Amino acid sequence: MAGFFLLIFVQLFENHRMVGISRGSSRALCFVTGISQSMSDDIAVVKAVTNSIINSNKGTENKPSLHILVPFSDPGFGPLIRTADDTLFKDIVDHLTATGGGDNEEMSLSGLQLALSSAPFNSDIFLFTDAPAKDKHLKNTVIALIERTQTVVNFMITDSVVTNRRKRSNGNQPQTRMIAESDAQLYRDLAQASGGQAIEVTKAELPAATTIITQFARLSVVTLLQASRSLGQTDSFNFIVDETVSNPTVYITGRSLTFTITSPTGASQQSTDSTGSLITSTTTVGNFKTLQLQKQVGQWGIRIESDNPYTLRVIGQSPVDFLFDFVEPSEGPFDGFDSLDTRPRAGVNGRLLVSITGSDSATVTEVALVQSSKGSEETLGVVESQGNGNFLVQVDVMPVVEFVVRVKGRVQGSSNDFQRQSPTNFRASNLTLTANSENVFIPGTLLSVPFTVASNGPDGNVTIRASNSGGFESTFPTILFLEGGNSTNGTVTLSAPKNTPSGSDVILTIEAESPDGTDSNYIMLRFSIINSFNDFTHPECELLNRESNCTENCSLTAWEIYVRVTDSEAGVDRVDLIQGNGTFNTSLEAGNAGITLVSYAASCCAPEMEMLVVDRVGNVGTCRFTARDSVSIGVSQSLFLCLSIVALGHFIFKLSEH
Ligand SMILES: *[C@@H]1O[C@H](CO)[C@@H](O)[C@H](O)[C@H]1NC(C)=O
Ligand SMILES: *[C@@H]1O[C@H](CO)[C@@H](O)[C@H](O)[C@H]1NC(C)=O
Ligand SMILES: *[C@@H]1O[C@H](CO)[C@@H](O)[C@H](O)[C@H]1NC(C)=O
Ligand SMILES: *[C@@H]1O[C@H](CO)[C@@H](O)[C@H](O)[C@H]1NC(C)=O
Ligand SMILES: *[C@@H]1O[C@H](CO)[C@@H](O)[C@H](O)[C@H]1NC(C)=O
Ligand SMILES: *[C@@H]1O[C@H](CO)[C@@H](O)[C@H](O)[C@H]1NC(C)=O
Ligand SMILES: *[C@@H]1O[C@H](CO)[C@@H](O)[C@H](O)[C@H]1NC(C)=O
Ligand SMILES: *[C@@H]1O[C@H](CO)[C@@H](O)[C@H](O)[C@H]1NC(C)=O
Repeated sequence: MAGFFLLIFVQLFENHRMVGISRGSSRALCFVTGISQSMSDDIAVVKAVTNSIINSNKGTENKPSLHILVPFSDPGFGPLIRTADDTLFKDIVDHLTATGGGDNEEMSLSGLQLALSSAPFNSDIFLFTDAPAKDKHLKNTVIALIERTQTVVNFMITDSVVTNRRKRSNGNQPQTRMIAESDAQLYRDLAQASGGQAIEVTKAELPAATTIITQFARLSVVTLLQASRSLGQTDSFNFIVDETVSNPTVYITGRSLTFTITSPTGASQQSTDSTGSLITSTTTVGNFKTLQLQKQVGQWGIRIESDNPYTLRVIGQSPVDFLFDFVEPSEGPFDGFDSLDTRPRAGVNGRLLVSITGSDSATVTEVALVQSSKGSEETLGVVESQGNGNFLVQVDVMPVVEFVVRVKGRVQGSSNDFQRQSPTNFRASNLTLTANSENVFIPGTLLSVPFTVASNGPDGNVTIRASNSGGFESTFPTILFLEGGNSTNGTVTLSAPKNTPSGSDVILTIEAESPDGTDSNYIMLRFSIINSFNDFTHPECELLNRESNCTENCSLTAWEIYVRVTDSEAGVDRVDLIQGNGTFNTSLEAGNAGITLVSYAASCCAPEMEMLVVDRVGNVGTCRFTARDSVSIGVSQSLFLCLSIVALGHFIFKLSEH
């Protein structure tokens, strides 16, 4: 037993010490998609991409460890569906239908916040939308989540295309845009912060986009270079292709631009030249270009000329990559470092802990913080090996502007350095935020989270915002007066309904914005929900989708349903089929063992099914579904068809109906 406890202890310690780095191994593939009526073409792309990714990775180790789907519309978003079972995920996506109302503004950022709050570190999210965000106030929270989880968010924005001049001069009306320029800019800003792309295409161009997204979702993708220019600027960029890199690929997002690529041997090729040999293929969809490069080891260059904003990302496939976190020396009883849950402080010294993945022998030779908007300014850190493949990097003065992290290293026996970059753009801040709180949240009680804001700037009113991924009610002071050089305190109070299920995590983000609005910081706190109230409720069934082809001759036709079984308190223990003649499959929702996903398919000759749903403290209910109710049900809506037997404690049985 001693060994057992010791093991747990060490793991907690390790997690605490290097949260980010220990989270690096599992990777999720997440789709966040609008499901309003106008989105049916986009949903078809989500289905095609999911199929293509899952089929191409079938039977290989090269597949995402987790799949996440978050639908959104207006006013709803969710539920989040999370599963490690790729076949089940494919089935659920295959049955997504465009159902939501209101084709105007949608809850896209709420859907994204939900996905970011439950995806592991270093994931890829693809968000599909054709509508402006209704919840723009979540922008800073979403950026905070992107920074802290180092997640890449790619946006597929349809029908936001600028009227082209030729059409207009032909006398056509300017095309109406569903998304105004400023609304599309919000998505571009979020993509840029995360190192992802904001791909803007027409509905007609969508099918071509499928291939692109499938490529993006390849695993073992490393970022060799990532840059963006918000104003049209002519600029030159360099990147290194090392021996371990295959399929070097350049992504450029932006309109009306030209470029010149230079290879390590000095050969060059211009964008207008389709016969050169450096670029082996070019694809353009909407504002997005993909260039496949010939593999040549060494330093490449790319020069871009444009009057418009653009982003550039050079990727390749390689096992060798890096993980890092901003850290501070641990205050606990052990030596070591804690990951920061805020932005690092600007203008003072800072620390990063870097580790190289995919090579035991690799060493880090250089770490630089590179200004995002102009590549010319770099801050070099002092690198010191900590053993076990970890490197501590000390930076004298943290940059006051947005930056990316660039790491150079050497794999033993190799004659060249490799170079990798963080896709994520980071910021340091002059504001500091601290909060100390328990990490357990008991529904039905109030959770008080006291926090302290400090600044070295002038006196003024700091704006406070608080947001949580559980959608729980909260109160907090919206303005705090802060004397320059001093600190001030506030409290966020959260309350969750008594029936909030145990087991899930909630992320609370508290933000502070400087009086002039130019600087902000946040602190991100994670709470486990533990529901310890007397539990008398049985699990409930939510019909995610039903498809039924039943006709007169039942033997020729079939029906199938997908159901999510949840329990508001203790969590689902088991689900059994008690009536029906069909294929009954269940799987646990990944990361949340309290939720079970059920699929059931049967011939129309067996048009009824019933299952027994039991929670962990023994409350029993049943859910019945039939082939016949012909209403089409979308993912965001739910229907409860439970004739339930409620067990009160383990003794009293009562019959009730929902
Ligand atoms: C700060 O806010 C308070 C209350 O809203 C207001 O009375 C005060 O004038 C503000 N101070 C400054 C420096 O803006
Ligand atoms: C900081 O603020 C507190 C509370 O307003 C005040 O008591 C204290 O004197 C201030 N300290 C400085 C150094 O201004
Ligand atoms: C803020 O709270 C801390 C403890 O959490 C306390 O030490 C400090 O004095 C408080 N500051 C003010 C200005 O009230
Ligand atoms: C922090 O303060 C310094 C000067 O004190 C300023 O130059 C810098 O822009 C500020 N940083 C941010 C992120 O606002
Ligand atoms: C239903 O279809 C089956 C298989 O094709 C056929 O054998 C049977 O005669 C059909 N029954 C009716 C009532 O049409
Ligand atoms: C119902 O028919 C559609 C189209 O014919 C088909 O794609 C689907 O798989 C069928 N569903 C079932 C449950 O047989
Ligand atoms: C269950 O369905 C299969 C074919 O789908 C049929 O052969 C069998 O007789 C059915 N069993 C019962 C008990 O209805
Ligand atoms: C249920 O699982 C079996 C085997 O794992 C699989 O062949 C079948 O397609 C699944 N059925 C559904 C409806 O998902």
